[in-house]
Amino acid sequence: MRVLLINGSPHAKGNTSIALAEVAKILEQEGIETVIVGIGVQPVRGCVACGSCRKNNTTCAFSDALYDHLLEILKEGVDGLVVGSPVYYAGPNGSLCALLDRLFYSAGTMLAYKPAAAVAVCRRGGASATFDRLNKYFTINNMPVVPSQYWNSVHGAAAGEALEDLEGLQTMRTLARNMAWMLRDLQAKHIPMGEDKKIKTSFVR
Ligand SMILES: Cc1cc2nc3c(=O)[nH]c(=O)nc-3n(C[C@H](O)[C@H](O)[C@H](O)COP(=O)(O)O)c2cc1C
Repeated sequence: MRVLLINGSPHAKGNTSIALAEVAKILEQEGIETVIVGIGVQPVRGCVACGSCRKNNTTCAFSDALYDHLLEILKEGVDGLVVGSPVYYAGPNGSLCALLDRLFYSAGTMLAYKPAAAVAVCRRGGASATFDRLNKYFTINNMPVVPSQYWNSVHGAAAGEALEDLEGLQTMRTLARNMAWMLRDLQAKHIPMGEDKKIKTSFVR
């Protein structure tokens, strides 16, 4: 089993990476492979609603190294997803949302039914709103949300300070154990993939 962890911070060695490393450490101890991909500092295009991914049943019209790399990982197969983001103005990093909009819109089917979790990392406020925003990607896409002992937030301002948030790091470890439990349980139960033909309305029509 393999879990993809996306670090939505431009800092490869910042607080979000500390939070995700804590999750990955426990997953690995539980015998689950982990792949961590950072979004880095390159510009990330957002979705322009061109519909080409839908029309041609292909990938996003914009090909960039980050998107292509993630798509390749999804094609190889992942069993779970963790998305971590620093909190910027009480929401996730805009570049991360730009990436996730494109990834979920074009390749969301590859993630459906996989347990997922969001992690918000901040100095002081906005973790809860960020957590909610990121969970929206999962809950519109048939992805069971993995719980923990608290809403998944880790606190720290300067890089490295997250190591001092002992409750936050414990929340990460609990999250990882719950994900391992859900992955094993869901695999054992062979979850039904059957779906009704999807009904899509703008309110009523
Ligand atoms: C543009 C920007 C906006 C921020 N907004 C918030 C905020 O709303 N609330 C907060 O507590 N911290 C805020 N922060 C602080 C970061 O969330 C915090 O430093 C976090 O640990 C950074 O994670 P990283 O080291 O993984 O990049 C902001 C930082 C930046 C650069």
